[in-house]
Amino acid sequence: MVRVTEAAAINSARLMGKGDGKAADQAAVDAMRKSLSHMDFDGTVVIGEGERDEAPMLYIGEKVGLGGSLKVDIALDPLEGTNLCATGAPNALAVIAIAEKGNFLHAPDTYMNKIATGPAGQGVIDLQKSPTENLQALAEAKACRVEDLTVVILDRSRHEDLIAEVRQSGARIKLISDGDVSAAIATCDPNSDVDILFGIGGAPEGVLAAAALKCLGGVMQAQLRFRHQEEKDRARKMGLEDLEKIFTLNDLAKGEVMFAATGVTSGDLLRGVRFFPGGAHTYSIVMRSLSKTVRHVEATHHFDSKPKYD
Ligand code: FBP
Repeated sequence: MVRVTEAAAINSARLMGKGDGKAADQAAVDAMRKSLSHMDFDGTVVIGEGERDEAPMLYIGEKVGLGGSLKVDIALDPLEGTNLCATGAPNALAVIAIAEKGNFLHAPDTYMNKIATGPAGQGVIDLQKSPTENLQALAEAKACRVEDLTVVILDRSRHEDLIAEVRQSGARIKLISDGDVSAAIATCDPNSDVDILFGIGGAPEGVLAAAALKCLGGVMQAQLRFRHQEEKDRARKMGLEDLEKIFTLNDLAKGEVMFAATGVTSGDLLRGVRFFPGGAHTYSIVMRSLSKTVRHVEATHHFDSKPKYD
């Protein structure tokens, strides 16, 4: 799996800072798709680049891999943080997660209201409660003051009220321009500078974050936020009955999952790709929920001797 994210990261990192997020995303998609085609499984993309009519590659429903008896569902984001890569800002990642067939939430490419935190939030957070109530409960669980907690929030105008309430509660805030997958993961790291993530981001990113949090013992709740009726219709077509449902981590990612990410630009979680003549260094994280093993993989790639597909 990590070879897949490494390939996507290397290809998109070539375009870091060029101001063309679309081109960087395409580069990541091309590399990820080629790498996936050599994987020894019968895979179906369930969280991908969008639906078939809007994404020519790695679309929802696309079959990937060599085939065979191992059937898996795949959630992927070849370049999470296209703007971050386009501007050379921190925390752009190439991300993939796999689960047994049927175990990821099948959601259209819409928005999702999320709350995510580390293991201390088990049985504590509740999306139906206010941000203030959640912060008070988390502070109690962590035996600290609300003022000692840091909330990570996407810097969007839709979050004006949320930001005002969190400020009122006394907690500190880290506003990020993009990249809520890496932010959700950071809430599980006791050495990171954030404790909890609040707010509305992409639904696909929500499923990917859930896969990662499952491996890290984190907790998450989420609710889809549709922009228009057509998205609701698509969600129903994908099998969702209750469009208001509040999903737990296990609704988003059931059973055992694996997660891999490679840094594109350097950030809190991972260093970005560094090129040298004829090759590159990459930094990745690979985790699985079954054993909760977290592996940090530092790789040196020599382009002359790499297989053609990556
Ligand atoms: P992309 O890489 O697809 O651009 O996503 C970046 C991101 O910041 C996600 O991390 C986040 O979930 C989503 O965009 C938020 O969406 P929007 O930018 O529309 O508010």
